[in-house]
Amino acid sequence: MSNKLTRSFGSLSISTFHLKRIMNFILHSSRSVLLLLALAAASLSHSSFVVADNAVSTHFYLVGVGPGDADLMTLRAVNTIQDADVILCRKEHAEILSEYLDGKELHHEFSRMIPFFSRDPSLYSGEDRKRAEDYQEKRAKLVRLVRDAVQAGRTVAVLDYGDPMIYGPRVWMLQEFQDLNPIVVPGLSSFNAANAALGLGITSGGHTKSVTLTAGDWIPADDTIEKLSVHRNTMVLFTMRAEFEHFINQLAINYPPETPIAIVQQAGRADGEKIIHSTIGTAFDEIDADDLPFEYLIYVGDFLKNGERKSPR
Ligand SMILES: C[S@@+](CC[C@H](N)C(=O)[O-])C[C@H]1O[C@@H](n2cnc3c(N)ncnc32)[C@H](O)[C@@H]1O
Repeated sequence: MSNKLTRSFGSLSISTFHLKRIMNFILHSSRSVLLLLALAAASLSHSSFVVADNAVSTHFYLVGVGPGDADLMTLRAVNTIQDADVILCRKEHAEILSEYLDGKELHHEFSRMIPFFSRDPSLYSGEDRKRAEDYQEKRAKLVRLVRDAVQAGRTVAVLDYGDPMIYGPRVWMLQEFQDLNPIVVPGLSSFNAANAALGLGITSGGHTKSVTLTAGDWIPADDTIEKLSVHRNTMVLFTMRAEFEHFINQLAINYPPETPIAIVQQAGRADGEKIIHSTIGTAFDEIDADDLPFEYLIYVGDFLKNGERKSPR
């Protein structure tokens, strides 16, 4: 689909440019009609040459399928899935998207392929080492499966939830299969669905205008929650498996206790979406962390006070 778009836009701009040149020649030289025709023909054949050079072809797609319900998938994702022969996805996606997966070779045994655990197992000990070995073995199987399929001329689509490029656990595949010219099909992130669920302009935070997307500090990085929160702008936390307590304690360092927070659970799922409002100072009393599912985002910031600044729908 994307190739088709590139092709039509590419030839449109080239022919407009050459049309202008042709008109100039006609105005300035009466003897040059034959020459012009030759030039136009040459430019057309040149443009198709350029298009062929730019056209990317692949048998490997990383497809964002959105945060939950099937109707939040893009048309491009649907078309890519329909054209694929082999699909790798979570079991949950196999169920939610079942109407698009009929007749496909389905694999959901590769869920939870976390890159952290695909590193050299000798770096770890005890339980972590065992997990690292298991993941490494799983990863090798996945790589073999994809390469065998592509070599046999089949198209493989790996489905990931939300947008695969935002804390996506499958991004490593883009490096692994770089030689296959992987194509990423963007998806609607849980962040987009949660913004809509809140119905507030998240960039309208009173004295700030920025949104920070971040995750728990268990991921080794310099931009800790404490450092990021000095401006008290809107922050959205992708929680993954970090403790709720950890987030609130880190946020409490720079945000005053009265700062509002919102927990958006299962954003984009008609049967599970839920919002809990609280503040940094009262969160532990008002929210039971044990009740939170894996799919929840924490929003922090004064924009949550601005109930009147509803996004137009
Ligand atoms: C590994 S990240 C993947 C994020 C995904 N790539 C995206 O764009 O939404 C998983 C985390 O994203 C958040 N998440 C994913 N789906 C969600 C949903 N439907 N509602 C709320 N949060 C969600 C949660 O914080 C979860 O722990």
